[in-house]
Amino acid sequence: MNSKLQKNIVIFASGAGSNTKKIIDYFKGNQNVSIALIVCNNPGAGVLDIATKENIPVLMITKNEFAQTGYGQQIKSFQPDLIILAGFLWKIPEILVASFPQKIINIHPALLPAYGGKGMYGNAVHSAVISGKEKQSGITIHYVDEKYDNGKIIFQESCDVTENDTVESLSEKIHELEHEFYPKIIDRLLKEIKS
Ligand code: GRF
Repeated sequence: MNSKLQKNIVIFASGAGSNTKKIIDYFKGNQNVSIALIVCNNPGAGVLDIATKENIPVLMITKNEFAQTGYGQQIKSFQPDLIILAGFLWKIPEILVASFPQKIINIHPALLPAYGGKGMYGNAVHSAVISGKEKQSGITIHYVDEKYDNGKIIFQESCDVTENDTVESLSEKIHELEHEFYPKIIDRLLKEIKS
């Protein structure tokens, strides 16, 4: 756990968990990377089944305590090198951002700074992109600060939006991009970490 090569990931996820699954699969067999913990606020989340199957510890959190403490002590005990948000909708409290500077990243299903901010998640994003008659959408991987979808951008990849696209078809395209690139970018960031 503590050797210099070993890197620990903590994933915050409260939805279906398809990105979490891709990240787990990507690092399977890699002795240097451990998915140490999944943090979740939704008892009905699909990601919990994934955690059980993969034997990954889960920390269930409540809104009040998260806002007050960020569960910083519990999370620190897993010695995360990177905290990954993958379908986690609550704002990250300042206390947690301050405890893990440049160590928390998020994936957003659009090309930030467009179509971001409070309430902009899931199909609401795709619906707004289609109503806005955008020719392109995509994914943004960015550092997390105490504002929604605001931190420094690490990576973006785009896809075409055609006249025939629906919320569902666009959501599918975006998920494909997320699944392809999120694990690779995480891998790259972990390799850049010196500790
Ligand atoms: C992803 O589309 C991501 O952009 C967003 O939440 C969604 C999570 O999907 N932040 P899943 O739970 O990984 O399937």
